[in-house]
Amino acid sequence: MRQQFVAGNWKMNGSLAGNAALLAEVMAGAAQARCEVAVCVPFPYLAQAQQLLQGSKIAFGAQDCSVHLSGAHTGEVAVGMLQEFGCRYVIVGHSERRADHHESDEQVAEKAQRVIEAGMTPIVCVGETLEERESGQTDAVVLRQLRAVTQRLGEQTSRIVLAYEPVWAIGTGRTATPEQAQAVHAVLRDHLKTLGEAAGGVQILYGGSVKPDNAQVLFAQKDIDGGLIGGASLKAADFLAIIAATR
Ligand code: G3P
Repeated sequence: MRQQFVAGNWKMNGSLAGNAALLAEVMAGAAQARCEVAVCVPFPYLAQAQQLLQGSKIAFGAQDCSVHLSGAHTGEVAVGMLQEFGCRYVIVGHSERRADHHESDEQVAEKAQRVIEAGMTPIVCVGETLEERESGQTDAVVLRQLRAVTQRLGEQTSRIVLAYEPVWAIGTGRTATPEQAQAVHAVLRDHLKTLGEAAGGVQILYGGSVKPDNAQVLFAQKDIDGGLIGGASLKAADFLAIIAATR
């Protein structure tokens, strides 16, 4: 049985004082959580997360990384730096980066590889836009995005966490129904299974307006192994309620 996993994606939010209060509440409330828990924080807060979360059950990670390992790449952050700060996870291919920074499927796959090579776990995001869903392309889009990663990683695919985040559900309050989400997760799972038993056991998270009132029914689906949580991860009570909704 796959363990469930709830990861917060803080996106570009936070402050030193606010983070300290949020993390203290989350640590206290999630100490007995039955699922894995992590927060992915903005780069400048990695040192704070490392310090405050030391010895706790909560892991932490970053929200992106460079495909380059070092050198003349102004503004970029290398996987070696993230690893040095104790990150366990790095989100790659979030739709906001694919859209705002024109990241291609191949670049996302390369980032996933860099993260694994540095000994961390990439949380690889895939998901279709509303237009793609309405024109019946959902499966083709998510499989294209996933295949770029699996082709590059081969048997190392078992070392990723996958997140299905329909773009139309992100930050909109419009969640995919449990049936819609499960259907896509099953398609993703089927592809992973073709790569062997280990890859077939990869955790697949759902992301997109997960809230305390819809988390339980989403997490009850057969192929949904937890959530990647945006807005609701910024409020301790909501994030803890979502953690408590895992099975
Ligand atoms: O990565 C998490 C995400 O994109 C979902 O955001 O605010 O809809 O939970 P939100």
